[in-house]
Amino acid sequence: MTAATKHTPLVLSGMQPTGQLHLGNYLGALKNWVKLQERMPCLYCIVDMHAITVWQEPATLANATREVTAAYIAAGVDPERSALFNQSQVVEHAELAWVFNCVARLGWLDRMTQFKEKSGKHKERASVGLYTYPVLQAADILVYRATHVPVGEDQRQHLELARDIAQKFNNDYAVPDFFPLPEPVITGHGARIMSLRDGTKKMSKSDESDFSRINLTDDADAIAQKVRKARTDPQPLPETAESLAGRPEAENLVNIYAALADHTPATVVSEFAGAQFSVFKNALADLAVAKLTPIASEMRRLLSDKAEIDGILKRGAERASAIAKPVMAELRRIVGFVG
Ligand code: TRP
Repeated sequence: MTAATKHTPLVLSGMQPTGQLHLGNYLGALKNWVKLQERMPCLYCIVDMHAITVWQEPATLANATREVTAAYIAAGVDPERSALFNQSQVVEHAELAWVFNCVARLGWLDRMTQFKEKSGKHKERASVGLYTYPVLQAADILVYRATHVPVGEDQRQHLELARDIAQKFNNDYAVPDFFPLPEPVITGHGARIMSLRDGTKKMSKSDESDFSRINLTDDADAIAQKVRKARTDPQPLPETAESLAGRPEAENLVNIYAALADHTPATVVSEFAGAQFSVFKNALADLAVAKLTPIASEMRRLLSDKAEIDGILKRGAERASAIAKPVMAELRRIVGFVG
């Protein structure tokens, strides 16, 4: 029997409040979260406690939290339907993370590839928080007994750890179904949006070249210019999507078009078969401008009223707390905490 059949279906996902959001975040994450709201109750969390595992200027962190909140809403997350909140405001995340620190084994965390990448050569200088980051992530999910977690491929290992922690807790305390084993919802095609300068690298906020990405706050001119300057090869568009293999830049632009238009890459290729990239890029620029500029203007509108955003986050945190509190009350009893 899968976890989803024993526990009420519930979606949780999280995004770090760091830096500029770009097209990759929108097509890879936000757009899927908007769709999931139609099918299941959802909790969407801005993980400010995860952000401080590496140094954050306090004012920058606060701004980024509001900016990500505005982006979620502008992209279509409905705060009336889905709880939208920042992690630090629901203290149960931190409390459960401590208990999970005592459930997870050092050997499990030693295998986490993201820690190895992020800590680099000097792991002794990384924060302890960075090491135990995936344990807090497991708490984010399990404090609500969430069953489905939409994440990119790069988070699969963290999800497996969350399942291992849930399973070990259930076994150690002999409470077989206390926690569900959460399932990843690996976001489908269009999830891997690559750099506009190098089709083999993910689009990233940390790339030095701003021409490598389309930011959600770019205006129409910037979007059009970046699309037109995007790297391509000299061939026209092929007849079939399969023929894009080995042409990473061409494939990326087709994938972006497909994701923005809600089509498959095959449909896009059949529509533009044999066209020059100059023609295709014009169509892509128009499409990207049409889809993204309303999001940017809605973000600007929302960000002009901080109190409104803070109010949305507060209400979201209250709804999230109402789910987390009874879970933690039961957990304290299970663990043997008197009170
Ligand atoms: N680690 C995730 C990322 O970098 C963010 C995250 C934190 C998350 N907590 C989560 C994602 C819980 C899903 C569920 O993308």
